[in-house]
This record gives sequence, C-alpha cells and structure tokens, in this order.
Amino acid sequence: MTTSLIKLENLNKTYLIGEQPLQVLNQVNLTINQGDYVSIMGPSGSGKSTLLNMIGMLDRPDDGEYLLKAKPTVNITEEKRAQLRRDHVGFIFQNFHLIPRLSARENAELPLMIAGISAKQRKVKVLNVFEKLGISDRSEHLPKQLSGGQMQRVAIARAMVMEPEILLADEPTGNLDQKSGLEVIDLLEELNKQGITLIVVTHDSNLGKRANRQLTMVDGKITQDIIRNATT
Ligand SMILES: Nc1ncnc2c1ncn2[C@@H]1O[C@H](COP(=O)(O)OP(=O)(O)O)[C@@H](O)[C@H]1O
Ligand SMILES: [Mg+2]
Repeated sequence: MTTSLIKLENLNKTYLIGEQPLQVLNQVNLTINQGDYVSIMGPSGSGKSTLLNMIGMLDRPDDGEYLLKAKPTVNITEEKRAQLRRDHVGFIFQNFHLIPRLSARENAELPLMIAGISAKQRKVKVLNVFEKLGISDRSEHLPKQLSGGQMQRVAIARAMVMEPEILLADEPTGNLDQKSGLEVIDLLEELNKQGITLIVVTHDSNLGKRANRQLTMVDGKITQDIIRNATT
C-alpha cells in the first residue's frame, strides 16, 4: 500500500526580473508517496531549487495547490506553514548552512531550541544522532574545524533531530569530494531505507540514477519522470 504524501497540483511561480516576468514553475503536477526516493535533475536555472523549496514550504506558489497528507498548504497562514515545516520536513543544502561561531552540537540543537526543548534533552538527542552519523568525536568542534563531509553530517543531524518524514537535499554533494559525497549519499539512502521520504536535487547523473524515481526539469516543467524500481 502506498500513501500519497506530497501532491502538487498545477503549481506556478513567476519571478519578476526587473520588469521582465520569468516563469520558474510552469503548471507542475507531481505526486510523491511515503518512503519514495526521488531525484530531480535538469540544467541550471530550470527550477529545481524552487520546486524543492515549494515542497519544503519555504516558498509559496503564485497559484495551484500543494496537498501534504491530503491537507491544503498554500492558502494557510505563514505560521501554520512554519508549523507543518517543523513537523514534517528536514533540509540539507549544498553549503551546509551551519552557523560559524556555534559548535557542531549547538548547530544541530538549533531546531530543538526553537521547538522549546530543554538544554539537557537537546544535548542527549543530538549526541545520539551524532553517534549514528559517526561524528560523536566532533561535537564540540566549530564548522571551520570540520571537513566538508563532517559539516554535511552535522547538517543532516540538525535535520534528523526533528525526526522529519521528508528529507529535502539540494545538491548535497555539490561541495564535497567524490569520496565524502558518496558517504553522504550512502547515509541519506540509509535514512530512506529506514522510511524517510528522500528528495535529492543533483547535477550528477550517476547520483540521480540511484534514486527509485528520477525527475528531469526543463524551463520550469517536469519533462521526464522515470520510475526505476517499484517501491512498496
Ligand atoms: N528569489 C528569486 N528572485 C528572482 N529570480 C529567482 C529567484 N529564485 C530563483 N530565481 C530564478 O529562477 C530560475 C530558477 O532558479 P532555481 O530554481 O534556483 O533553478 P535551479 O535550482 O534549477 O538551478 C533562475 O533563473 C533563477 O535565477
Ligand atoms: Mg538550484
């Protein structure tokens, strides 16, 4: 039995570049099931990050609907969207987005802090996730004292402490050497095997092909949708 987790219906998004409108998403329709592993490929500027940000509710479409677990998310307050985001979504970015003057542990604690979790519980939770990700011995290091692969693990930990159902990764290996990139992907795939719905934007076709479902975007449209293995 598959459950539809994410359902995008006729999403449009246009940016104004000066006076010139640029349609970045053009009537996008997409359904993603719980537990799927989806990659999004396509040329630079084709709208991949915009689509991912829509799925993560970081950005709102001009029109169309986004049903998350069958519930509308577009025409609700920003506060409700923020709550849905905290409850369901984790993000990983190419540049890690860590705060330079906070330790690895403090960075990973941030979403828990925002959620009002006590300092003691935050620490326990983060160290537990660090253990699973193999970075326990780096918890008090600053980002600049870490390798790229370690920084990305800290970013993954920061997402995972909130126990999201959906993990969105925008070019997660873009700033990593091949070996650390593969390690990070292995880790994300492991989380997918444990049940998380994984959506990865990537330039790298070898990486894109590892997903069970491979989407291609061109000029704000999904032009190809290849399902490689049936997910159950
Ligand atoms: N906030 C914004 N304001 C104006 N233009 C934007 C904004 N965000 C993205 N764009 C433009 O939209 C297009 C698609 O961007 P993006 O989704 O980042 O593409 P991709 O991730 O596929 O490279 C690009 O031409 C980009 O310059
Ligand atoms: Mg992008």
